[in-house]
Amino acid sequence: MTQQAEASQKLKPHKIWQDGHMPQPCAIVIFGATGDLAQRKLLPTLAHLMHDHPLPQSFCIVAFARRPLDDEQWRAMALKSINTYMPEDDRLDEEGQKQFASHLFYCQSTFEDSQGYQKLKQLLEKLDREQGTAGNRLFYLATPPETDSQIIAQLGAAGLSHPGQGAENGHEEHGNHSNNHGKSWARIIIEKPFGHDLATAQKLNRDLGRVFRENQIYRIDHYMGKETVQNILAFRFSNGIFEPLWNQRYIDHVQITVAESLGIGTRAEFYESEGAIRDIVQNHIMQVLCLTGMEPPVAFDAEAIRDEKVKLLRAINPLTPDEAKQDVVRAQYVAGEVDGKHVVGYKEEQGVKPDSTTETFVALKFFIENWRWEDVPFYIRTGKRLPKRSTEVTIQFKRVPHQLYKPSETKGLVPNRLTIRIQPDEGIALKIGAKVPGAANQLSSVDMSFSYNQAFGIESPEAYERLIADCILGDSTLFIRRDEIEASWRIIDSITKVWKQLPPRRCILIKLEPGGLLRRMGCLSAMDVPGITLSCLWHDAAEARVYIS
Ligand code: BG6
Repeated sequence: MTQQAEASQKLKPHKIWQDGHMPQPCAIVIFGATGDLAQRKLLPTLAHLMHDHPLPQSFCIVAFARRPLDDEQWRAMALKSINTYMPEDDRLDEEGQKQFASHLFYCQSTFEDSQGYQKLKQLLEKLDREQGTAGNRLFYLATPPETDSQIIAQLGAAGLSHPGQGAENGHEEHGNHSNNHGKSWARIIIEKPFGHDLATAQKLNRDLGRVFRENQIYRIDHYMGKETVQNILAFRFSNGIFEPLWNQRYIDHVQITVAESLGIGTRAEFYESEGAIRDIVQNHIMQVLCLTGMEPPVAFDAEAIRDEKVKLLRAINPLTPDEAKQDVVRAQYVAGEVDGKHVVGYKEEQGVKPDSTTETFVALKFFIENWRWEDVPFYIRTGKRLPKRSTEVTIQFKRVPHQLYKPSETKGLVPNRLTIRIQPDEGIALKIGAKVPGAANQLSSVDMSFSYNQAFGIESPEAYERLIADCILGDSTLFIRRDEIEASWRIIDSITKVWKQLPPRRCILIKLEPGGLLRRMGCLSAMDVPGITLSCLWHDAAEARVYIS
């Protein structure tokens, strides 16, 4: 057994329901239930929630899908998924599996067929009567984005955007978010990608708004479900010593990196139309950025927090065409070695066009135009097939105003740097200068470190677990509001529009040799090289444009 496995075995289980906030019975209807997301993430998460936390007995999972299956076949399929994708130490025993399967139901229909939604309505009413789901419905759209509007309209036409009459005193919930004890509810979760650009996101928002009220809509971004992402707020607003320094007077620049070692796997069709900027920057990175840069909210509630996130996004000016050309670098991975194994380049991946210009790597710089962040560059990077998986936020503080020590004595010194490690090895490190023991005045940078596992000894909930639980409780704090998603697309559009207009030969695609050029761009380990700051690495990146393919 590896040390890591040994350590994780010792972690104590977490609590997902707070005292006094217990989930109500409900039926969760999964659209796209036979798809990848449902099989890999949603079913294992629901099985875990049901078994370990647990969900109420009167909780049902309904698959709405086109394959001709009956309840028993769907149950067999779902059990196969949970046995494949649940972590080994979390798998259900035979009795647990039997229990889980007894909560599963299948409704066969295409997404276009209005009869199918009537069938679904009848099934949900039957579950209210026979299983006690109390008229509460949660619709989960784990579907390709082009089908979303169709499903939403059909749900509306079938009257399914209103809760059923199942609750004894069944009334619709009002107010913004609450557990609404005793009242029935209907909610909808929409997976990313939410639109392909600002116009399509606005259209989807309008389609949703015709059928559901905003407080019924839960736009999901699984990064918001990560403990380490939520901890950015806790860290900033519960420590008196950092917040006074969290501004342009003391911070030199901020870096946000989402580096993945995996390639695109079998998702070529999806990835070809999204690229790194839509797949990661528009959603996950923007969320991390919001929490890192926003002002303190007036309260820890959904509206106050999301108000501040929107204000921050609005303070980022869309990039001008010149900025979009100068300050954004995109690239594709080429063939190389990962963990000693040969991996193919992006263009050779199955399903990718040989002349594809889709970016698998993007790095960009922008500014937040407000009092706190004036003139502080934010550097953002993400890519697939990078040398190692690492998601982190780095706050680089300014150098001391006057250095007492000679340059030869401070060679090993970097400015103070705070690194929030979102994954893996979740934790926070602060680099500080210290004197190397001995007679000479030799200074070096050392780390003050916090590690989640060591500090708390409690396993963190999976992102989807937290988010599904919150939606069942009616808490939308970690979900994305309508204006927020549109504000984020406005920034991304300013880049992708310029890319679209560039004649193909002027598309700048750097060939990233795994581990080579990337290190020079300061993506990962080079960040720790003393004396190197990202701004000079940024120049490096610009020079690297000579590697145009
Ligand atoms: C998804 C992207 O939203 O996030 C994937 O579509 C990416 O391409 C994944 O791999 C990364 O999530 P995580 O939680 O592994 O960082």
